[in-house]
Amino acid sequence: MSDRHVSLIDLTLAYGGTIAVPGLTLDIVKGELIALLGPSGCGKTTTMRAIAGLLKPAAGRISIAGRDVTHVPANKRGVGLVFQSYALFPHLSAFENVAFGLRLRHSSETVIRARTEAGLATVGLSALATRRPAELSGGQQQRLALARSLVMEPSVLLLDEPLSNLDARLRLDMRSELQRMQRQTGVTMVFVTHDQAEALALADRVVLMRAGVIEQLGTPADLYSRPATAFAAGFMGFENIFRVEGTSLVSDAGAVPLGFAAGAPILAWRPGGVAVGAGPYAGQVVASSFAGSHREYVLESPLGRIKADVPIERAGAALGETVAFDLPQETVWPLMT
Ligand SMILES: Nc1ncnc2c1ncn2[C@@H]1O[C@H](COP(=O)(O)OP(=O)(O)O)[C@@H](O)[C@H]1O
Ligand SMILES: [Mg+2]
Repeated sequence: MSDRHVSLIDLTLAYGGTIAVPGLTLDIVKGELIALLGPSGCGKTTTMRAIAGLLKPAAGRISIAGRDVTHVPANKRGVGLVFQSYALFPHLSAFENVAFGLRLRHSSETVIRARTEAGLATVGLSALATRRPAELSGGQQQRLALARSLVMEPSVLLLDEPLSNLDARLRLDMRSELQRMQRQTGVTMVFVTHDQAEALALADRVVLMRAGVIEQLGTPADLYSRPATAFAAGFMGFENIFRVEGTSLVSDAGAVPLGFAAGAPILAWRPGGVAVGAGPYAGQVVASSFAGSHREYVLESPLGRIKADVPIERAGAALGETVAFDLPQETVWPLMT
């Protein structure tokens, strides 16, 4: 792969004697937006700190733009870092917050002014340049933190859960903002999130991590439509995941007969793939919530809780009512592990 930009080569990361990431190998392509996705504690931040040069690997190598940077200090790697808490300087204006790194570099006043103004324009904050962080909204502060990193013209920008402090509406705005900035600057972006929807919406490729190991790597479409493991399927919205034993579908709660030949040891259905209103199984509606085009039912069944999305025009069952349902072969996703 000639266009690889950041390579992690058999990278082992540890805190004291505890290994957080054992032997991670990953190539990140120049100009791509890659998302590290996974539950809390799976090693996302640890990996970011290693790329940034803030954590010395216990073993393995890191190369950026063809150069081995394993032993290169953080400030010589051309890597920008934006954390969840953006750590803006409260006593400085937006302009001076963005200019700060350039001043440290002893750039000329002309360069500082030009780059800072361009950076503020990129994130849509030109009009608020004189405000202090406290006079900006959460989203504006987030954009300011981004501008501060962008003006340093990093070749790689690392973003560690940068949107998790924002409310839902702003998060959506910032997603498209980030994508736009990434296309505009061509910077290679590594974006960390524990939010599946965010990773799928933003990234060119998603790295799903589990306990320091890559569980699955692919495009959002790959991961969403073809999760390889029960863990990946669970992360990609398959709420109903069951084991197959003989001709039965089995959960920790119980078992039901399966109506077709399984062909795999684990079967999964998305809530939208569960058919409600007819079928061989029965479940009591224990929760029902309005979700626009459908209702989200939780059915208490012999398999335990089943999540089922029912189109609004067919969602007539009352809370407490028992309904028939099916886990159809047409909507099943088979899993090997
Ligand atoms: N400073 C630290 N000292 C010791 N262990 C740590 C430290 N930071 C993280 N860990 C451990 O390393 C693992 C990975 O953590 P982290 O990379 O922060 O996960 P994530 O960012 O995916 O939530 C976890 O088990 C965590 O407890
Ligand atoms: Mg983290």
